[in-house]
Amino acid sequence: MSAVVLLKIKRGAPGEAQQEVAYEVPFEPGQSVLDALRWIRAHRDPTLAIRYSCTSANTCKECMVVVDGKTVYACTARLESRDMQVGPLPNKKLIRDLVTEIAPPDERLERPPGGKNSS
Ligand code: FES
Repeated sequence: MSAVVLLKIKRGAPGEAQQEVAYEVPFEPGQSVLDALRWIRAHRDPTLAIRYSCTSANTCKECMVVVDGKTVYACTARLESRDMQVGPLPNKKLIRDLVTEIAPPDERLERPPGGKNSS
């Protein structure tokens, strides 16, 4: 039997109570937390909101999340063969699930008049 990781992910949208949802992910040595999150989206739940661009180069800085209480880049944080907790950044505005507003205000697109924010 191959090893699995139980990822307990805090999910929710602004104005909703956050809930912790657990996903079993096959463990492969050398995987990143981002690899596991992408596996969940591909194989278990495509509605899980995550954000990333460079996937492993640690250059876009878009994948920041909290893993076991520490702020990390999901693409460089190593997946470990144990239960792990993953949540959004607590000091940033929550958009949904693991996605928070990290762009500086002067780099954000303006909302169209009367329109909804598409993020
Ligand atoms: S995905 Fe770009 S820094 Fe992690």
